[in-house]
Amino acid sequence: MGLSSDMAKPVSEQSVPHVPVLLAEVLEALAPLAGARIVDGTFGAGGYSRALLQAGAAVVAIDRDPRVRPFAAALSAEFPSRFSFVAGAFAELDELAAGPVDGVVLDIGVSSMQLDEAERGFSFMREGPLDMRMAAEGESAADLVNGLDEATLANLLFAYGEERKSRRIAHSIVAARASAPIRTTAELARLIEKAIGRKPGDAHPATRSFQALRIAVNDEFGQLVDGLFASERLLGEGGRLAVVTFHSLEDRIVKRFLDPEKGAPTQSRHLPQVVVEAPRWIDVAKAVKPGAAETARNPRARSAILRAARRSSAPARAANIERLGVPRVRGAA
Ligand SMILES: C[S@@+](CC[C@H](N)C(=O)[O-])C[C@H]1O[C@@H](n2cnc3c(N)ncnc32)[C@H](O)[C@@H]1O
Repeated sequence: MGLSSDMAKPVSEQSVPHVPVLLAEVLEALAPLAGARIVDGTFGAGGYSRALLQAGAAVVAIDRDPRVRPFAAALSAEFPSRFSFVAGAFAELDELAAGPVDGVVLDIGVSSMQLDEAERGFSFMREGPLDMRMAAEGESAADLVNGLDEATLANLLFAYGEERKSRRIAHSIVAARASAPIRTTAELARLIEKAIGRKPGDAHPATRSFQALRIAVNDEFGQLVDGLFASERLLGEGGRLAVVTFHSLEDRIVKRFLDPEKGAPTQSRHLPQVVVEAPRWIDVAKAVKPGAAETARNPRARSAILRAARRSSAPARAANIERLGVPRVRGAA
């Protein structure tokens, strides 16, 4: 896959950088001291990494989208001794970076560059191939839309997009693809609008379905859960975790992960007596949302939620998704 014309330009000439969301709040949560080692698991255009480097920290940045490389190259040139970039998925961040580290930040979801590049297929507002793969590998959204059986497709739209009209949409998709495969974002968006209608003032009727497909294509819940447990293993005692999410399904996972009652068993199933485990996370902060000034400046920040905590001295748990409220698609393999 080649670079879009914009990404092929030097970083300084690119027209649409990603505006970092809740930047001041993330920095406050990570409290980067000079010499601190911090992992930025979702590098994007490097907004967080740059601010952390400017505060004196050393940063290992990770991203699975090969198109962020020009942004990483710019920071490598500017901070050669304190910045490094590793291509990969943050689910494996404890294998991609050496621990213990002082901070981990995850800014989940898509970047403005991904949304704005029509040929990536993330946006129903831009005509492009129905792709949605961040890492340019694996099944695309078109593969799911044209390949899943009707019930599984409906369950996916419901579980990952909270789309209440999922059955009607899945039925229309299956009827349409019987004559020809659905290949583009605009085709799918039109089909969904026709299936469930559009109320003036409401979000586009394809919003939830596109979210669901993007989550499935990129295994976003699996990545989030694995990334959280990997952070638990990688952070040293007192190390700080900051996670920014963009919808309630993800936020619920982070909230439960940090909650000692939900995230860690307090009672062994195999022993009669109650086993109280020391919490892995301390100083768990209340959720932080952007203020009116930030959402006016950057509408994409609207649904962001930051959660932060510090790592205790208790040993990391074995990864276990029970209790985290991860949505499941009925019927999927
Ligand atoms: C919202 S953007 C991050 C923006 C960044 N904080 C900034 O200030 O520019 C999310 C980035 O994370 C990457 N990403 C999403 N899921 C990932 C995963 N599981 N592993 C690695 N990178 C991921 C995306 O490719 C995207 O570049």
